[in-house]
Amino acid sequence: MAERTEVVFVDGVRTPFGRAGEKGQYWNTRADDLVVKAIIGLLERNPNVPKDRIDDVAIAATTQQGDQGLTLGRTAALLAGLPKSVPGFAIDRMCAGAMTSVTTLGSGIAFGAYDLAIAGGVEHMGRHPMGFGADPNPRFLTERLVGEDALNMGSTAERIHDRFPALTKERSDRFAMRSQQKTAAAYENGKLQPDLVPVAIRSESGWGLATRDEGMRPETNMESLATLRTPFRPHGRVSAGNSSPLTDGATASLLASADAVKEFGLTPKMRMVSFAFAGVEPEIMGLGPVPSTEKALRKAGLSIDDIGLFELNEAFAIQVLSFLDHFGIDDDDPRVNKWGGAIAIGHPLAASGVRLMIQLARQFEEHPEVRYGVTAMCVGLGQGGTVIWENPNFDKRAARKA
Ligand SMILES: CC(C)(COP(=O)(O)OP(=O)(O)OC[C@H]1O[C@@H](n2cnc3c(N)ncnc32)[C@H](O)[C@@H]1OP(=O)(O)O)[C@@H](O)C(=O)NCCC(=O)NCCS
Repeated sequence: MAERTEVVFVDGVRTPFGRAGEKGQYWNTRADDLVVKAIIGLLERNPNVPKDRIDDVAIAATTQQGDQGLTLGRTAALLAGLPKSVPGFAIDRMCAGAMTSVTTLGSGIAFGAYDLAIAGGVEHMGRHPMGFGADPNPRFLTERLVGEDALNMGSTAERIHDRFPALTKERSDRFAMRSQQKTAAAYENGKLQPDLVPVAIRSESGWGLATRDEGMRPETNMESLATLRTPFRPHGRVSAGNSSPLTDGATASLLASADAVKEFGLTPKMRMVSFAFAGVEPEIMGLGPVPSTEKALRKAGLSIDDIGLFELNEAFAIQVLSFLDHFGIDDDDPRVNKWGGAIAIGHPLAASGVRLMIQLARQFEEHPEVRYGVTAMCVGLGQGGTVIWENPNFDKRAARKA
């Protein structure tokens, strides 16, 4: 049997994220155009990569209809100007769509089937509201396979609060406020902007350019968070302030084998160490990253203490807190979501996995003392996904000093 080939994350970019809905910056922009823009931006930044050597393109979307249908990887590749000889396909694992694009194509590289691949995702939640057009089998409810709550993500978040009373609304709100503050600081220090591909947009007032994430609320404070409605349950704990907002956006990343790195003179930003997906009860889907991370750590032969940086998708503050509590990590541990997360930046479902990787890759550059990092996220219907990455800039001497 052939040896496993090393898989690296060479680069990743994304569109600025927009607020979903009529007032959002992408209301008049097609979903496929967003991901095409991201792929073009990615290739422009990596001119060494011959387009005809890309072996596959996997693009995820949760709702695969209309401008998110027609096997997106193929349509996006054609629209981005890749040669017709480059194949592509669509992926769906709801929120972990782009993460699954990366693990699927990464596995193809490890197997030796691919040398270069493009993995990403898109979700235009304005044009494709969550669950729109879905037709869940009635057996789910008649046979009590899942509770009614399982199909409403906010309700699953309320259930995590029920299960862990020590994780209070106050802690969720504080985590959300910190996310907003960290993202605001990251913007001020120019941390996020280098990986954004500007998108031309049209509104009633004419043409413009989207250059920033639109959902950020840097002025967030505990007092205003305390007054917000809890739309998923009367007198509940989950609010618009401590949830990720409905978001439009796209991501794209370039993966390569060790041979391709040599052949094309590429500089890897991360090396894939292991990945895992796991299932949990759908009614508490936010706990999914706990078993997926345990599994990925086991496969890598690592422990949670080996992880120096975490990029956790903040679908809901409570969902990240349950992960941190499980692993004995403080709510405001500096290794976690250094530049904030989905609560501030947004969570265009199937696009988000690659956003986590883009941010981890940048932080690896800044932290040669860190050897391993984790990207992890929860997934609707009760799943979690985790990818463990190694920092190619790791420097033992820097680690000893830290
Ligand atoms: C929670 C949710 C229903 C809120 O939707 P919404 O009501 O359209 O959200 P809005 O942005 O309009 O915010 C509602 C209100 O809270 C306010 N608000 C939101 N965030 C705030 C903050 N950080 N500080 C202060 N006020 C805030 C808004 O200003 C708005 O006030 P208004 O009604 O006076 O205008 C929606 O964001 C949601 O469903 N999120 C979860 C998405 C999801 O499930 N993703 C998948 C995860 S698995």
